[in-house]
Amino acid sequence: VTEVRKGFVEVGSDNVCLPIYYEKYEKFLNKFEVRDSDIYLLAHPKTGTTWTQEMIWLIVNNLDYEGARQILLNRFPLLEAPIYVDDEVVDISALHGDDFITFINALPEPRCIKSHLHWSLLPEQIQNRSKKPKIISIFRNPEDTCVSFYYYCKLFEGYRGTFEEFCDLFLAGRLSHGPFWKLVLSLWNERENSNILFIKYIDMKNDLPSVIRKVAQFLGRNIDEDHIDKLTKHLSFDSMKKNPAVNLQPLLDTFALPHNLMMDEGAFIRRGIVDGYKSEMTMEQIQKFKKWTRENLVGSDFDEEVV
Ligand code: A3P
Repeated sequence: VTEVRKGFVEVGSDNVCLPIYYEKYEKFLNKFEVRDSDIYLLAHPKTGTTWTQEMIWLIVNNLDYEGARQILLNRFPLLEAPIYVDDEVVDISALHGDDFITFINALPEPRCIKSHLHWSLLPEQIQNRSKKPKIISIFRNPEDTCVSFYYYCKLFEGYRGTFEEFCDLFLAGRLSHGPFWKLVLSLWNERENSNILFIKYIDMKNDLPSVIRKVAQFLGRNIDEDHIDKLTKHLSFDSMKKNPAVNLQPLLDTFALPHNLMMDEGAFIRRGIVDGYKSEMTMEQIQKFKKWTRENLVGSDFDEEVV
């Protein structure tokens, strides 16, 4: 573990970049007790994971819209949440109503848990397949992911550099959970051995009902067409943007952070489109991204078309 940028360390052979507080929680993450009944959402940050969490949670909980008024962070927590905060300054139990470890262990079954960790940093019982939870992973193109991450880091991590510098950090794998392709491929390479369903942000944009059907089938749930219609509306961009349970406003309120996210053009549920990067990146940046993707996919059978 080496400190690579102020506040960040590099971990493991894929040089995964993580906040320095990772080290304190490394053991908890390695030894976390997985259950066969658990459902994991594993993906890079900013790929549409909140959207997917809300979909999965409702499918698993028999479309309990009343229950879905509880904040998503408590219904479908992030396994590594403690690594983002200095627990001597911020007490995240204020949000979860309990010590984080007690809280996550006691989630009602089936537990829905999200993680942005590289495969090699996940709980051992997932890696060695001694437990066989269902895993869903969402893929979004790295250019849109990077733009989305930029606005997020400006709001939540106090990023003050330029967009150009941010793109370079993204390409160099120097942002939390980077390098992007190392994380994506670490999950992709497990698809034969573990129970993983890959879905795509672009498919959710183009045909959400089909993705809902596919995910429901994977999770062994049946939803009739009327209910699919209602869920599609609930998951629309406009409805999610207005829904305080899924945007991060309660988090900001709990910790009295000095942002008014909902009013800001950089709000957490921000723009929600495919290829938005084309109006944010220069041609030169776009070419850099394409070249970097080609280089990173050499020797891999990862195919954006079929994920
Ligand atoms: P943008 O910043 O491009 O708008 P994550 O939840 O993994 O952090 O991903 C956040 C991205 O998902 C944001 O992208 C956000 O707007 C988008 N998103 C959230 N809910 C969405 C929805 N219902 N429809 C489309 N995009 C959505």
